[in-house]
Amino acid sequence: MLQGKHILLGITGSIAAYKAATLTRLLIKQGATVKIVMTPLAKEFITPVTLATLSKNTVLSEFFHHDDGSWNSHVELGLWADVFIIAPCTANSLAKMANGIADNLLLTSYLSVRCPVVIAPAMDMDMYAHKATQRNIATLQQDGVSFIEPPCGELASGLEGKGRMAEPEAITQWLSDFFDKKESLKKKILITAGPTYEAIDPVRFIGNYSSGKMGFAIAEEAANRGAEVILITGPVQITTTNPRITRIDVKSAQEMYEAALQHFPTVDGAILSAAVADFTPVTKHNIKIKEKQSLSVDLKPTPDIAQELGKIKKTEQVLAGFALETNNEFEHAKAKLEKKNFDFIVLNSLADKGAGFGYDTNKITIIKRTGDVIKYDLKSKKEVASDIISVFSSLS
Ligand code: C5P
Repeated sequence: MLQGKHILLGITGSIAAYKAATLTRLLIKQGATVKIVMTPLAKEFITPVTLATLSKNTVLSEFFHHDDGSWNSHVELGLWADVFIIAPCTANSLAKMANGIADNLLLTSYLSVRCPVVIAPAMDMDMYAHKATQRNIATLQQDGVSFIEPPCGELASGLEGKGRMAEPEAITQWLSDFFDKKESLKKKILITAGPTYEAIDPVRFIGNYSSGKMGFAIAEEAANRGAEVILITGPVQITTTNPRITRIDVKSAQEMYEAALQHFPTVDGAILSAAVADFTPVTKHNIKIKEKQSLSVDLKPTPDIAQELGKIKKTEQVLAGFALETNNEFEHAKAKLEKKNFDFIVLNSLADKGAGFGYDTNKITIIKRTGDVIKYDLKSKKEVASDIISVFSSLS
């Protein structure tokens, strides 16, 4: 059901635009509030009057009202929406979205929205199959946009193939499943993210290249699906606005360990994605070390947070960790799964292009305690987070 959901429907200039009327009716029948933004060309295929009547809301298309100079705020629309569905989406609009072009209100809305974006493409089969279109789809997927694939069937050109827009019933079902999945994770989850900094003196530290992007994506995904999240993070350049995420900022492995140990007994499970430093200086100098010919820093091991949580884990708690490996990936990951008492481990290899620190993408394999192994393609970190949370929720 879509009761109470705010759905922003974007309509572009395709013959399939006539189906937007049925789609609007179905969404409203399921309890959603629908606001519509259409491209100027879309108005050639279906009139704003029809859509305004069905949606019971003014249909937006232009930046300005020429008669009184007032303007339509795409920013407000973006804040209002729970989901932005663009159906039908032409090859042209798709290409513009993939490249950040913003020459109509639908496109500026796309760049402003904070909610998930879903595209139902509609075009001729050859246009859909064209390398340029497929490249644009891949770019948008990496940006976190979801797609409702066009089914095979008769096209407006008379040809048979893949390109026609999914039927309004299928789109409505997709959205309903999306919200069901989104709000089904009634759990409290602890997530560690980012690097730790181990101080040598007041201005220097030992750290690593972790950006925290993967852990933050997992926290966002868990929160978006309804979980209450405690995010313990090392120093990163990422902000969090999600009200379901309680963020605890720490610097060192010791601080992360103390925070994790304090909160772990209160949660249903934990996903440990932090790149915790393995060693920390034996002594932290209180004043800045002055230049010397040579300097050696004695190191001692940090607490292994994962292993400690693995020891106190209750049967009903789910514990998951990461293994970032460069060689013998599978064996190393399996050994870590055992040693740290994980229920599953997420393996990513630095040998894979686009995986690991700093990238917006990742390529993972999940190894479960039961022995099951799931290999995934290279995906955006947002999609990877969704896969990880799906495995987590199947075990919790
Ligand atoms: O042994 P390694 O550092 O590769 O293990 C990786 C997993 O263990 C990750 O899930 C990481 O967050 C966790 N870990 C930890 N505390 C440490 C070291 C690693 O929680 N001191």
